[in-house]
Amino acid sequence: MSSSGIRRPAILITGAGGEVGYGLIDRLSRSADHDLIALDIKELPADVRERCTSSIVGDILDANLLQRLVSQYEIHTIYHLAALLSTRAEYTPDTAHRVNVEGTLNLLQLAHEQARWHGNAVKFLFPSSIAVYGLPDAATKLKAGAVRESQWNFPTTMYGCNKLYCEHLGRYYTFHYRQLAAEKTLRGVDFRSLRFPGLISAVTMPTGGTSDYAVEMIHSAARNEPYDCFVPAEAKIPFMVMPDAIRSLIALAEVPVERLTQRVYNVTAFSLTAGELQQRVVQAFPKATIRFRPDVARARIVDSWPADVDDTPARKDWNWQPEYPVDKAFSEYLIPGILRHYNGS
Ligand code: SER
Repeated sequence: MSSSGIRRPAILITGAGGEVGYGLIDRLSRSADHDLIALDIKELPADVRERCTSSIVGDILDANLLQRLVSQYEIHTIYHLAALLSTRAEYTPDTAHRVNVEGTLNLLQLAHEQARWHGNAVKFLFPSSIAVYGLPDAATKLKAGAVRESQWNFPTTMYGCNKLYCEHLGRYYTFHYRQLAAEKTLRGVDFRSLRFPGLISAVTMPTGGTSDYAVEMIHSAARNEPYDCFVPAEAKIPFMVMPDAIRSLIALAEVPVERLTQRVYNVTAFSLTAGELQQRVVQAFPKATIRFRPDVARARIVDSWPADVDDTPARKDWNWQPEYPVDKAFSEYLIPGILRHYNGS
């Protein structure tokens, strides 16, 4: 809220303490025309808290907390990042469903109510994932090539099921919510979603994902620790470095709604096998010890994800283009960023 007591438009970020939240807060806090409200189950580090108008510790399943938020702030945009990732969700599928689906439903409902209050559509940015795809085996995956949004929507993980269903919920809230009600209600949710590939950050580590081997491999090498990779060398999925992920989220949030021909978009930067990743890491850190010790079950999940995704609609509708193709990702972001992170050099 401003010092005059007038409510300013606010951006709410859930899961703000995760690795996407960290980068997003950094970017969004550079603009002063909105309040920035961070919500996370854990307290954020002090340097991140400082960048937000308010930083709230709480659970997206807590209805009272969400009501309090609505009474205090005029929310115009929501980046709903809170989720249990794919590996973690397989250990606690029921909890994952509650957090990933019921949590999203709560936030969509909050967006709808906010829109009714202030009369403007609430933008709802939702990171989805390549985990919504489910290819039956590695041979089919090889043949499939770059997969379009409508293909192979048969997820094999709880997380993938949750993300795919929430994409549908977002579309429902945007176009069909309460379609049989006698009184025509304002459909105030403007849902926009990106299906992210594996994300790699030079600074933060993901928790509980299945594409984490890429991040773990690079960071272990930089720390001079041996790494046992849990997928085989030939396992291949698409990736993107964190600055591109943040840029794509913000670009999708800013594009005029008339330009959107769909509500869920693939985005990608490059595809690599775990073996190719190893070569690049060893080139940068010649003393790195990386062994392939596949975990059959986790490797099977990676086999069910496409080797590449077709992001033509994002390129056409809102000019999506990665700033970091593979060589630049390593030479200008990952390697220097990781060296700075660990050595301060
Ligand atoms: N990176 C995520 C995971 O591995 C997929 O979106 O769970």
